[in-house]
Amino acid sequence: MCGIVGYAGKRDVVSVLFKGLTNLEYRGYDSAGMALRDDGEIKIYKTLGKLINLKNELELKKNEIHHPTSGIGHIRWATHGSPSLVNAHPHTCNCGKLAIVHNGIIENYKELREELIKKGCTFKSQTDTETIAHLVANEYSITKNLEEAVRNSVKKLQGAYAVCVMHKDVPDVIIGARKHAPMLVAIGEDENFIASDTPAIIEYTKKAIYLDDNEIAVVTKNSVKITDTEGNEIKKNIEILPFEPAALSKQGYKHFMLKEIHEQPDVIRNVLNGKLFDIDAPVILNEVKIDADTLKKLNKIKIIACGTSLHAALAGKYLIEDFAGISVEVEASSEYIYRKTTTDASTLVIGVSQSGETADTITAIKQAKSKNSHVLIITNRPDSNMARLADSLIPVNAGIEVSVAATKSYTAQLISFYLLAIHFAEIKNTLDSEFLKHLKHELIQIPSKIETILSDLKPIKECAKKFSSYKNFIYISRGINLATAYEGALKLKEISYINATGYPAGELKHGPIAMLDETMPVLAILIPGGITYEKILSNCEEAKARNAKLIALTSSDDTNIDSIFDIVLRIPKVPEILSPAMTCVPLQLLAYFIAEYLGKDVDQPRNLAKSVTVE
Ligand code: F6R
Repeated sequence: MCGIVGYAGKRDVVSVLFKGLTNLEYRGYDSAGMALRDDGEIKIYKTLGKLINLKNELELKKNEIHHPTSGIGHIRWATHGSPSLVNAHPHTCNCGKLAIVHNGIIENYKELREELIKKGCTFKSQTDTETIAHLVANEYSITKNLEEAVRNSVKKLQGAYAVCVMHKDVPDVIIGARKHAPMLVAIGEDENFIASDTPAIIEYTKKAIYLDDNEIAVVTKNSVKITDTEGNEIKKNIEILPFEPAALSKQGYKHFMLKEIHEQPDVIRNVLNGKLFDIDAPVILNEVKIDADTLKKLNKIKIIACGTSLHAALAGKYLIEDFAGISVEVEASSEYIYRKTTTDASTLVIGVSQSGETADTITAIKQAKSKNSHVLIITNRPDSNMARLADSLIPVNAGIEVSVAATKSYTAQLISFYLLAIHFAEIKNTLDSEFLKHLKHELIQIPSKIETILSDLKPIKECAKKFSSYKNFIYISRGINLATAYEGALKLKEISYINATGYPAGELKHGPIAMLDETMPVLAILIPGGITYEKILSNCEEAKARNAKLIALTSSDDTNIDSIFDIVLRIPKVPEILSPAMTCVPLQLLAYFIAEYLGKDVDQPRNLAKSVTVE
């Protein structure tokens, strides 16, 4: 949700900012802009739409850009004010000497704007960000000190911000400040960076300082100073970032989504690594600080998450209840926050998030912490805000996920839930030891079984081709694969814009069956030998009787369904309880190939952004 990069140093400033924004573009693509310090001036360039437009604009204006020595850049996902050129960042003040880029939402911007208008400020945009530009400029006119002006200004802001400021009269100084929105300072030699997320800078340095709320960074090419909002200097640790630049290349795949789908076997091996290596040994989750005593005192587990992570949570509920016999509730983070009585000190609250920055989930987690619940975070970003709030942590190690549609982070979250449910079962001794061994053995086989799926994409491509012209789909299942139905439908919706709904198969006859005819395909996920198979099959027969086209996603040992279904997609044989870690893969691919046939922008679907840092 918007991306920021700032740079002061020896390299070509435009290239560094552009590269940084390219690596952040998955966070928003409504508009893009840069402010450059060049020839003693602040020069601002902005364009509407994707970053390529900014590249073209900079190319067009290359004769007027000489030797910039520092700069700030931004890509926007519109919140306040439509996606328009005037609302694009950087924003500036009346005199044009100051440039500012901002992620987040300023809640009191209307009041501040009115005050500033009374003081003579002229606003050009509808954004909350422009308020910060005028505010800092106004403070600077009084203090004549940019650092102090930023400090005084942020004290007046309510809401969330990560801001970068530069001023014509303060050469090559970039000031960053944050509250409830991520920001880091990356350290190089004769160069320093500010960014809203690691991909922006990972190609240049792996050393970084994460800013905490209410901290301000004053950055030049040779110095970094971090203070609180009173100006007291704070000593911060320099951390070594865990990511490799290779994660940011498509490595020959047409899209990041396809590459990330193919990474899933290795991602799962990574998640299992060090946690489950021997079927006779217990699962090891070093950063989960919940012992037998705590588990005994728990009266329930509450899992909160959004979107795809919410679907992983639904499978997680099923697993923890099934393996460890603990009651689990799952709720969308944005709804959890209105529930007054559901959490207390005897509730374990599990937050699930790929990015670890989702505002809805962070708010919900803070609420749970205020009720003294133990908070366990399952995230792909152990360096995130959410991870910093955790009492216990499961880092899912999927690597940077660039495609806006989550794929590998979902399977990594699922595998983490298998490990957690087994871990709880081992502490509580709730599973038969032979079953436990069988489960672990099968879990270890999953990566190579996904490789089998990925080795033959022809049936999925054919299915995609046959069904790409349909406007509506229903995905059905029961039990643990209901989560897969929801997730498969979400994937199709978000990248192809086709209306797809995940539904409990048994609920079809209670309403949605009324919609069924030959124009509404039904995709059913059913695994032979499982406890739901026969009933899902009956529900499919009901759909067939209403002329719906039927697609089955089943396993290779299911031999007698070809006569009922129009198309049958298969995964290798697997116990039903473990199947969600595999059934999601053909559905990711189906969504991918349908979107491809329809010519959609797979990696950057319209209206979406990767991490949603507004509520
Ligand atoms: C779907 C997708 C979103 C996210 C949701 C939560 O493909 O990516 O639905 O799952 O915005 O994001 P995280 O997991 O980062 O909290």
